[in-house]
Amino acid sequence: MAGIDYTSLIPNNVNLHENRRLQRALEDWQPKFLEWWKDMGPNGFQAKEVYLRTAISVDAQGWAHFGYVRMPEYRWGIFLAEPEPGRQVNFGDHKGQPAWQEVPGEHRGTLRRLIVTQGDTEPASVEQQRHLGRTCPSLYDLRNLFQVNVEEGRHLWAMVYLLDAYFGRDGREESEALLQRRSGDADKPRILGAFNEKTPDWLSFFMFCFFTDRDGKYQLASLAESGFDPLSQTCRFMLTEEAHHMFVGETGIMRIVQRACELMREHKTEDVRKYGGIDLRTIQRYLNFHCSVSLDLFGSEISTNAANFYTAGLKGRFEETKKQDDHLLKEATYTVVELDGERIVTREEGALVSLNERLRDDCARGVARWNEVIRKHGIDIELKLPHRAFHRAIGIFSEVRVSPDGQVVSQAEWDARHHDWLPTEEDKAYIQSLMVPVTEPGKFANWIAPPARGINGQPVDFEYVRLA
Ligand SMILES: [Fe+2]
Ligand SMILES: [Fe+2]
Repeated sequence: MAGIDYTSLIPNNVNLHENRRLQRALEDWQPKFLEWWKDMGPNGFQAKEVYLRTAISVDAQGWAHFGYVRMPEYRWGIFLAEPEPGRQVNFGDHKGQPAWQEVPGEHRGTLRRLIVTQGDTEPASVEQQRHLGRTCPSLYDLRNLFQVNVEEGRHLWAMVYLLDAYFGRDGREESEALLQRRSGDADKPRILGAFNEKTPDWLSFFMFCFFTDRDGKYQLASLAESGFDPLSQTCRFMLTEEAHHMFVGETGIMRIVQRACELMREHKTEDVRKYGGIDLRTIQRYLNFHCSVSLDLFGSEISTNAANFYTAGLKGRFEETKKQDDHLLKEATYTVVELDGERIVTREEGALVSLNERLRDDCARGVARWNEVIRKHGIDIELKLPHRAFHRAIGIFSEVRVSPDGQVVSQAEWDARHHDWLPTEEDKAYIQSLMVPVTEPGKFANWIAPPARGINGQPVDFEYVRLA
């Protein structure tokens, strides 16, 4: 099972050749995917050779092969993690039953919606990032962008496989629709709001990989617990790819912070813009924005949908099987925050409807590592995560104005101060002015430090993308 068949048109480890109907459906979809990739994938680099990793087996040891590939020739395929023998539904009303190998009829519509919603984010992020290659800060970063992009493309394949294999005609229609929606399109937008925002620059890209892919990780981890076994196996392998995306985000911001600190020390000023850096205050405003937009992706704090997904055995909690409780949660409660007039207070709520709350990760560890860099430079400034109620569009805090430190403020105060809290037009114009491509091997844009090491043991000045 671990071995992947690369001899067939669609690489896979699901014995695709044994299911002619499915094979035909996917072979019919493949050219449409490639057409989408050429239209909406990385702009301007389709013919270039990129040093990419490709999955060769799905076990933990050495699943990746590295080599130069032109992106349209990347071997996108269908890779599922190893099945767990005797796996059961581990939570909800069906707890203790054997895990489902087919879609349970009563939950068919709900499950399809969950898969489509996850699947829609994958091509959306490729669309959002398609112009970034033209302003890359280095070949190393350019390669990382493309690695993330091809893997998001593969995640789309993963969801389309489930739709085509298990949902018949409806599934095939959804697979087509996933290639027809477009990020930010007024008529045919992507499903979730954050995936219709622009990713106009590399600071936004790194923030997106840090905050939004982290949401993605928690969503995938909770789908990996699903009682529907093919979804679980699919998401378990996707998680191994997702880890690299968060690495790109976290280290990208760390390198920007590091460069800011170097310039601060060298020139004895916080205002490093004069020297072509990105000042910590601007980084903080971008952080505030991306953190709040990503929190919205977790959904409403109190959600009957989340409760229903759980009770039905479709979507669990992060690390469900490691938790020591009854995995039914009918009696349990959970502490949630809510608004009491002007104050943010906590109260107990039924655990089932509070499931979105538990999934929320506070991202604190990554921020602590950035602050470690600042501290090592002897600088007395800290980056902070904004309060969870800050700048929210979904959930109970969407109706109030809240400062990054969690004070409910009036509209007038918000109007007067939001320029200190969120990226301004001037910030955006400044960041845009820095977006000048640097493509000589081993060279980096002035606003970002080189990475500590290269990819797959290669030196930092390796030719990660062959542009010539
Ligand atoms: Fe993904
Ligand atoms: Fe990702």
